[in-house]
Amino acid sequence: MPSISNSPSNEREDAAALSWFRGGAFPLYLAPMAGYTDLVFRSLCKAEGADVMVTEFVLADHLLRDEARIWETVDFTEAQRPMGVQIFGAEPHVMAEAARRVEARLSPDFIDINYGCPSPRICRQHAGASLLQDLPRLGRIAAAVVRAVPATPVTAKIRIGWDERSIVAVEAARCLEEVGIRVLTVHGRTKVQGYSGDADWSVIAEVAERVGIPVVGNGNVRSSADVLRLRRDTGVRGLMIGRAALGYPWVFRELSEQLSAGSHAGAPGLQERWETMIAYAEALLERPHIGPQGNRLHWMRPRLKFFTKRLPGGRRLREAIESVETVSQLRDLAARHCSEYGDGPVLAPFDIWR
Ligand SMILES: Cc1cc2nc3c(=O)[nH]c(=O)nc-3n(C[C@H](O)[C@H](O)[C@H](O)COP(=O)(O)O)c2cc1C
Repeated sequence: MPSISNSPSNEREDAAALSWFRGGAFPLYLAPMAGYTDLVFRSLCKAEGADVMVTEFVLADHLLRDEARIWETVDFTEAQRPMGVQIFGAEPHVMAEAARRVEARLSPDFIDINYGCPSPRICRQHAGASLLQDLPRLGRIAAAVVRAVPATPVTAKIRIGWDERSIVAVEAARCLEEVGIRVLTVHGRTKVQGYSGDADWSVIAEVAERVGIPVVGNGNVRSSADVLRLRRDTGVRGLMIGRAALGYPWVFRELSEQLSAGSHAGAPGLQERWETMIAYAEALLERPHIGPQGNRLHWMRPRLKFFTKRLPGGRRLREAIESVETVSQLRDLAARHCSEYGDGPVLAPFDIWR
């Protein structure tokens, strides 16, 4: 078992740090999803019980340019804590300086390093998942960031490897633990898989067994049965939920109720689904820096459509949302839909009680 060679200050900071794992807690994280898990969406998830959240990733070089727009991407509210800010990049000294600036400006509960992004543009820059092919560099980046922010825990998020022939999650995890990474999220897919195919939970379980730091498992967690089984069988200390939360922040309420009480929290009715969707649209309008300028409702449409997953008459609704131009039209649509279907129980968008 590798030693946890964290910086000396970690002992002091431990009193406050990583409190979300204390007392055997099993936190549910909202996965960072660029373009979707903005400050407004995170507020919805927090209200429904997400324990820990992470901003979408920002390139370290952009933080160094000090552009207002980039700082807005990693903005969060006090109510959203514990919050991590996720950074990525290829150069240890640039990553270190970006981390210093993040710490000085935002005092996040942790700084997370992204080693999972599969985008060719990012991998060409030797950042994101491409670092799984260069573990010495992956380690140097983490070490530089850990040294740069001794008062802030540094965490990392990896995939299990580049492709099925190069599964390096255990080696990467041990290397990251050695240099002082405090929590590791493992997304159980390879870079080549992107976001499709099954996550390999046997590799995640092996990582959890081979390192001493908490491992958070990620990849296709969708049902209470998944959550209970993964907690029991894999040794992970928490789970991260991505796409199952899009349009359905209630996933956190339902899964945490199942974890803590072994019972089902009622799924939200139609009325609540619409009220939340409309509040979300209004809150986004109040924050014009989130998303592009121009017609904000157009940009919101795909995000709003997520909220219609498994609603009765869902396909017609999604067609109707394609022509929504204002919040008041959204309200009219909600009124027509509720009067057609009432406020009876609505299915969760996936088989949450499977
Ligand atoms: C649209 C989208 C954007 C994403 N952006 C990020 C990101 O900024 N940082 C990151 O670490 N992972 C990002 N991911 C990956 C997710 O955090 C998560 O690892 C992945 O979706 C697998 O979890 P799931 O199967 O529960 O969705 C993104 C995923 C999606 C679908």
